[in-house]
Amino acid sequence: MADINIANAQLELGKKGFLDLAIDPTMDLFKEIARLKKEKNAIVLAHYYQEADIQDVADYIGDSLGLAQQAEKAQADIIVFAGVHFMAETAKILNPTKKVLLPDLNAGCSLADSAPADLFKKFKAKYPDHIVISYINCTADIKALSDIICTSGNAEKIIESVPAETPIIFAPDKNLGAYLNKKTGRKMVLWNGACMVHEIFSLEKISKLKLRHPEAKVIAHPECEEPILRIADFIGSTTQLLKYTQQDSGQAYIVATETGILHQMQKASPEKNFIPAPPDNSCACNDCPHMKLNTLEKLYLCMEYEAPEILMEENLRLAAKKPIDRMLAISRAAGLIG
Ligand code: 13P
Ligand code: SF4
Repeated sequence: MADINIANAQLELGKKGFLDLAIDPTMDLFKEIARLKKEKNAIVLAHYYQEADIQDVADYIGDSLGLAQQAEKAQADIIVFAGVHFMAETAKILNPTKKVLLPDLNAGCSLADSAPADLFKKFKAKYPDHIVISYINCTADIKALSDIICTSGNAEKIIESVPAETPIIFAPDKNLGAYLNKKTGRKMVLWNGACMVHEIFSLEKISKLKLRHPEAKVIAHPECEEPILRIADFIGSTTQLLKYTQQDSGQAYIVATETGILHQMQKASPEKNFIPAPPDNSCACNDCPHMKLNTLEKLYLCMEYEAPEILMEENLRLAAKKPIDRMLAISRAAGLIG
C-alpha cells in the first residue's frame, strides 16, 4: 500500500517535474539502476549533454541522429530517455510499443519552444510552394507540419537530397539554417528560432582565450552564431566534434557547445586539453538548463516507478513519423547510419 502511495506521489510530482523525492543517500544508485535495467528489461539512452554520471550508466550515448536510430531499433520493453522532451517524443514516435520514460518532464528545449505550431502554420502558409525541412529539435506538432526532419549530423545531406529548384523553409534554428545556406548555396527561408545555450558564446572571450592558448583549436556546434562559426577550425554535431578530437593531431580544443560533451572527449583522449568556450555572461558555465534537469536520482526514480511516461495521440504520432522516416532513409542511403 505504501508503495502505491509513493508511486502516485511520484506520478504527480513527475507531472510537475520534481521527480526527486528524498531517497536514501547511502543508496548505490549505479547498482540500483543496473538492477532495474535487468529486472525491467530497460535501456538508458543518453545525450552527450547529460551529466557525467548519467552518461556513465547509459547503454548508448549519442547525438540526436544516433539516439533516434537507437530508439527506433530498441528491443527493450522500456526506453529511459536521458535527454530532453523532443528526443523522448521522437523515441515514442519511432517505437510506439515501448514504454518511453523521461526522468524530468520539464526537460524542454528553448529551440523547440521558439516554434509554436500555430504560428509556424501561418508562416508556412505564406510559402505554399516550399517544402519544409525541420531540425529534429522541435515538437511533434512541428514535425507533423514538416516534409523532412534533419539533425546537425545529416542536415547537409538532407538538403542536398532536395532538387536544387525546390524552395525550402528551414525551421526552427536560424543559426543552423544560415550556416547551411552558406554551406549548400541554397537560399532557404529561415524560421527565427535559436538555442539559448549556443547563442551565448562570447567572441571576445573566446578570442582572449585563444591568445592564452594559441595551440588550441576552436571547435563549434552549428547552432552557434555566425561570428563563432567563422573562427571555428571545425564545425559539427556533437558526435562529429567528439570524433574530430579523437582523430585530429591537435592537443588542445576550445569547445563551443554544451559542456556535457567534454566528459566523453576527456575520456577518449585523456592526454588532451579541453576548454569550454566561455559564454557572454557572468556565469562560468554553458550548461543547458533543460538537459541538466535530469539527475541520476531522477533517473533511478523514473525507472523504479515507471514515470513520467511519454504518451502521444496516434494521429499526431503517424503524421510526425513520416518526415522522420524520410530523414532516416536518406541518412542510411548516404551511409551516415547503419
Ligand atoms: P546534436 O545532438 O545533433 O549534436 O544537437 C545538439 C543539441 O543541441 C541537442 O539538443
Ligand atoms: Fe535545446 Fe539548446 Fe538545450 Fe539542445 S542545448 S536541448 S537545442 S536548449
